[in-house]
Amino acid sequence: MKAESIKAPPLLKNLGLEAPSLSRVSIILNKAKFIETLEKGITLDNLNLLKNKVTDLKNVIRFYKDKEGILNIDFNGDTVSLRKDVLISELDQILEARTFQRAKYYLDRLKAGVEKVKTNKINDINLLRWKEYDEVVTDSLWVLDKRDTSGAHLGWYWGNFIPQIPHQIILRYTKKAEWVLDPFVGSGTTLIECRRLGRNGIGIELNTEVAIKAKELVQKEPNNFNATSDITVGDSTRIDFKVMLKQKGINKVQLLIMHPPYHNIIKFSKDNRDLSNAPTVNKFLEMFGKVVDSTDPFLEKNRYLAIVIGDKYSKGEWIPLGFYVMGEVLKRNYKLKSIIVKNFEETRAKRNQKELWRYRALVGGFYIFKHEYILIFKKK
Ligand SMILES: C[S@@+](CC[C@H](N)C(=O)[O-])C[C@H]1O[C@@H](n2cnc3c(N)ncnc32)[C@H](O)[C@@H]1O
Repeated sequence: MKAESIKAPPLLKNLGLEAPSLSRVSIILNKAKFIETLEKGITLDNLNLLKNKVTDLKNVIRFYKDKEGILNIDFNGDTVSLRKDVLISELDQILEARTFQRAKYYLDRLKAGVEKVKTNKINDINLLRWKEYDEVVTDSLWVLDKRDTSGAHLGWYWGNFIPQIPHQIILRYTKKAEWVLDPFVGSGTTLIECRRLGRNGIGIELNTEVAIKAKELVQKEPNNFNATSDITVGDSTRIDFKVMLKQKGINKVQLLIMHPPYHNIIKFSKDNRDLSNAPTVNKFLEMFGKVVDSTDPFLEKNRYLAIVIGDKYSKGEWIPLGFYVMGEVLKRNYKLKSIIVKNFEETRAKRNQKELWRYRALVGGFYIFKHEYILIFKKK
């Protein structure tokens, strides 16, 4: 039975990293009618006629003056949802074209973006509509000031990372239903993001209490994509990943996210298998190297390893843990794809002692940490 067609222009709000703004509003169109209109434009044989057609289309999108039925959506028909601001800017680009060939080229491109989906092998970003993904960061400097505390992200764990980090990495380096492994899962931030984005997530955590709480929270996060989320208590330097993954019926994962302790900056437990209890930086690096070695066979070739790490300060010296960790990975079968510098969230303790730290820095000839690294590697 054919349902009544909807007359009012249907609008959607996009869910990005930041609060949805008006510019991110999407519009739903009748796909067949929209393509038909674009085709009519493409078959015209002069620039002015083509521009008139595009002006009509722009009026439909901006003022809902719809003669062609582009906004008529019936429940049995196919629809397309487009970012309104991006669509208008694409139509403007056509209107500004100086040659007929150029205008046709832009119109063709717009039609292809509506008709087809083109992705690469490592994510679901539709490259034919790449302009709509402005929530996906591509710069190497990340200034993220507001922690996402929605849903199960409570931020209870001292030493957790800001959810936007795994969010961005998962969007860039996985497709829906693929597998993400985090061998230092802590409070489960990676797994909560996996669930939101429809990826399967496996986490390892040494500390039983932390793992139990993380499991509970991850389960509380709605599971709209029916993703698998699993946390195992264990030591990532020696756990048998082959057996563990086999139990879950998988041979390979498509992304590794590692957020190890920044050596002994925060002591996570009294367990000597905990990387935060490594007696020296060299021992820390050796333990970290073991985690890379034991997880590496299970990462698919040409897929990515992302490491979140900060430096430390000890006995009047800046210890570049981030660079040391990078060196450890580069000794292995990986190539470096990016060094991202991310602003460091001020801890409450540091905020209260701001003046003192500034004084210490002036006296001691050093700078106060304000950044950490996200290192992106690709398996060769
Ligand atoms: C920096 S935290 C990770 C926080 C996590 N990204 C989050 O958002 O909650 C590092 C975690 O690694 C865990 N850890 C340390 N050594 C480990 C090991 N050998 N095997 C597994 N987990 C370990 C610690 O208990 C801690 O929870």
